[in-house]
Amino acid sequence: MRSIGARLALWYAVAATATLACLFVAGYYLLEGYLIHGLDLLNESEFRQIKAQLGPHYKSMNPEVIDQRIRETTDYASVLFYIDIHGNHEGTIFYSSNLKGQSIPDVKGKRRYDIDWGSIGLLRVGEFILPPYDVILATPETQVDGVMEGYASVCGALLVLMLAMSIAIGFGLSRYALRPVRLIRETASRIGSDNLGERIPVPAVDDEISDLARLLNAMFDRLEASFKNVRRFAADASHELKTPLSLVRLHAEKLLAGGGLGHEQEEEVQSLLEELTRLNGTIEELLFLSRAEARSITLRLGPHDPRTLLAHFNADALVLAEDRGLRYSSVHDGEGLAICEPRWVRRVLLNLLTNAVNASPPGGELRLRSEVAGDVWRVSLEDEGAGVPEAEREHIFDRFVRLQAERSDHLGTGLGLAICRSIIELHHGRIYVEGGTGGRGLRAVFEIPAQPVPPAAIVSAESPEPAMSA
Ligand SMILES: Nc1ncnc2c1ncn2[C@@H]1O[C@H](COP(=O)(O)OP(=O)(O)O)[C@@H](O)[C@H]1O
Ligand SMILES: [Mg+2]
Repeated sequence: MRSIGARLALWYAVAATATLACLFVAGYYLLEGYLIHGLDLLNESEFRQIKAQLGPHYKSMNPEVIDQRIRETTDYASVLFYIDIHGNHEGTIFYSSNLKGQSIPDVKGKRRYDIDWGSIGLLRVGEFILPPYDVILATPETQVDGVMEGYASVCGALLVLMLAMSIAIGFGLSRYALRPVRLIRETASRIGSDNLGERIPVPAVDDEISDLARLLNAMFDRLEASFKNVRRFAADASHELKTPLSLVRLHAEKLLAGGGLGHEQEEEVQSLLEELTRLNGTIEELLFLSRAEARSITLRLGPHDPRTLLAHFNADALVLAEDRGLRYSSVHDGEGLAICEPRWVRRVLLNLLTNAVNASPPGGELRLRSEVAGDVWRVSLEDEGAGVPEAEREHIFDRFVRLQAERSDHLGTGLGLAICRSIIELHHGRIYVEGGTGGRGLRAVFEIPAQPVPPAAIVSAESPEPAMSA
């Protein structure tokens, strides 16, 4: 059972019902003992009545007189009592008529006992001494049995009721008791790197739960502080690096412009400048990532036609692909407007294209598919390269992750996909990679929200599909 509430309710119900059941069992034996004792008293009072009837001189009476005297007093109670009087020497001197000539079975060494006597049923027997006779009196236990059966069935019904009620009460109680825990869970699950400022409400009472809430809040305080530090550090560091870097660049350019360098030295300064450009790019990217994480970048999101967006991008993509001896094709399906800021989408597309171009074998094909379906715009770019093992597909979106870093012609920083993900998330979309068609290459896919165009707008904006290939 996953819920503590349900477990508590069940434990509570079982404990309460078991306690009640124990009480009922104890009550059962007490009541039964009490009723049987009542029967013993009944037997005893009957004996006293017989004794009184016989008078003090019964020893000298002959058996017929005794029989007659007893029968006078006992026949009216023949449903209630079975009477058997016998002496050691005289033998039986009296049977009540309901015994039909049989004697009541004797249990040696016991004065009060129960016997189960065939058709008559269960009897409570009392043995009394009236020297020289033994007086055995028995009375049926059927009444007691009836009462006990009634008691047991009432208790059974009460136990079922108790179980049902205690489950309901237990459930209500545990829900009430666990309410603060639910509140903590809900708040804690809302707190992420983008809203570290939220805190768990601390209950007014001073108990374990409020301690836990305070403890968690203190932890969130520390987390928030260190998150802020890390972000500020990345932003500050990138910012601080930019100025000295542009100074170095200025000096290098001055050296080149001076013209006093030899051919070899000039080439070295050129490659220095190239490296500087790369470094500058990395710093810009880091700055962008830390600002995107701090949510200090706001996009101007608006509805844009994916066809126009792609038409511009395809022109660049064709040039890039041709330059590397690759083929490039693009298709678009569906009607609708993507909610985006075009320059950022273009940046994502360029990053994905660069990756695909870098991964492609000579003569490989790059296929871009774009589609507006319902309220999403989905774009995928597929290449015929080596692909990425399934276990690494999420990992490559992390910063500075490069799988083929040893390849000399690939000068990536490992920040491209991290930036793509940041941008797509700012667009409230998602980006992922999967295996290409037929298990070859890689397909990078992103989805961002779109809105359908009203039918009238489609007719007026009818334009040739920007499908092209190289
Ligand atoms: N289309 C692709 N095919 C194969 N591997 C890829 C592809 N795209 C990305 N990768 C892998 O993911 C890593 C991270 O990509 P990215 O974040 O763009 O960094 P960079 O391109 O700077 O290396 C790349 O180094 C590469 O190993
Ligand atoms: Mg890249």
